[in-house]
Amino acid sequence: MRVLVIGSGGREHALAWKLARSPRATKIYVTPGNAGTRWPASAGVAPCETLPIPADDLQRLREFAAANAIDLTVVGPEGPLVDGIVDYFQQVGLRIFGPSKQVAQLEGSKAFAKQFMSEHGIPTAPYAVARTPEEAFAYIDQHEPTLVVKADGLAAGKGVFVCDTREESRAAVQAIMVDRAFGEAGSAVVLEDRLVGRELSVLAFCDGRRAAVMPVARDHKRAHDGDQGPNTGGMGAFAPAHDVPADVVNEVVTRVIQPTLDSLIASGNSYRGVLYAGLMLTERGLMTLEFNCRFGDPEAQAILPLLKTDLIDVIDACLVGQLDRVAVEWSDEVCVAVVLASAGYPNEYRRGLPISGLDASLPNSVLFHAGTSQHGDQVVTSGGRVLTAAATGPTLAAAAERAYQLAAAVRFDGAFYRQDIGQTGAAHT
Ligand code: AMP
Ligand code: GLY
Repeated sequence: MRVLVIGSGGREHALAWKLARSPRATKIYVTPGNAGTRWPASAGVAPCETLPIPADDLQRLREFAAANAIDLTVVGPEGPLVDGIVDYFQQVGLRIFGPSKQVAQLEGSKAFAKQFMSEHGIPTAPYAVARTPEEAFAYIDQHEPTLVVKADGLAAGKGVFVCDTREESRAAVQAIMVDRAFGEAGSAVVLEDRLVGRELSVLAFCDGRRAAVMPVARDHKRAHDGDQGPNTGGMGAFAPAHDVPADVVNEVVTRVIQPTLDSLIASGNSYRGVLYAGLMLTERGLMTLEFNCRFGDPEAQAILPLLKTDLIDVIDACLVGQLDRVAVEWSDEVCVAVVLASAGYPNEYRRGLPISGLDASLPNSVLFHAGTSQHGDQVVTSGGRVLTAAATGPTLAAAAERAYQLAAAVRFDGAFYRQDIGQTGAAHT
């Protein structure tokens, strides 16, 4: 089977790495990929090639898939899904894994997601949607000072402002709706009650009707140790989060994931792909903060190394609506994934810095590339999140130790990573 992976981050490297280990895979392509998403064939691993087609160029992607007999396309990032790449590929009979444009609005519009959750009784914080700055300012004036202000559309994880005061909330509305810091994504805002609690990410493979839940992961969104510093796309993750009891996971399935699938079917849609629920355990109980319509990054790098079942079999079962025919099995181990970032990330950072130590190899570990490019013989940095060092082990501590050994072997000017990935789960293993 010839498989195309769309995207260029650590998540896409992890997807390609896992897909290449399927006995059914003969060739993997990643586009636009990075310096790590290419390798020759070796025992039990299909070869992988990188192509320079941007992830938002749906037309060229479809032309490539059709002309190169691609049997399956797997979409990493949300952008192409929200733009309708699944419908677009399916129009010409190409098989592609992900939700349709209509359903991807669960991630593409926070107002849509909130309305969907309230209509269908899915637990989420009270909220309002404002379509003009005046409406937003009026709501802020009447409301408790603590609020979360969210740009409606896609903003690469940067469109959420957790505010302590009305001044901060007004400044957030100003940035989103007036200054249009996120462009069209700011034509509406969601104003949401601010919650307090522990966060968890529950991802599930979905076949339209059924969900197969993955090990619960925890992302570390702040740039620095102890959850300090600015929000980022994610500085590391671990799975499973043993501090989340099994009954909470069951509650997420019965109160969030399954009702979402059922309600979509009732409205004539169906969700085939990975559904990601971002959740918080609060004093008021379980709350859904957001939906994503794809794997998380870096959650994918912490989850996929634990998947024992052939990923192509799982995806196939989702595409034909028969997830019940596949036993999706997971390793009993723990995986820790540590992101190595460029100095300055998530703000300004330099690119083009040479990276050394990339051939470091340790047992049960893998170095996933993200913001890397090949310049002649040299691999250089080309993004804020540069690499993810992922390792599995029998305990969280063992996995973390290995992941940090791998991270320490890699060097580039100004490289930094959090030292505490996994520590919130440490008391429980
Ligand atoms: P989202 O993209 O909606 O998940 O928001 C990004 C981050 O903002 C979340 O991971 C939380 O840390 C925080 N956040 C979002 N909504 C809330 C809320 N209602 N209360 C407190 N924090 C929130
Ligand atoms: N790590 C958060 C996300 O992928 O949205």
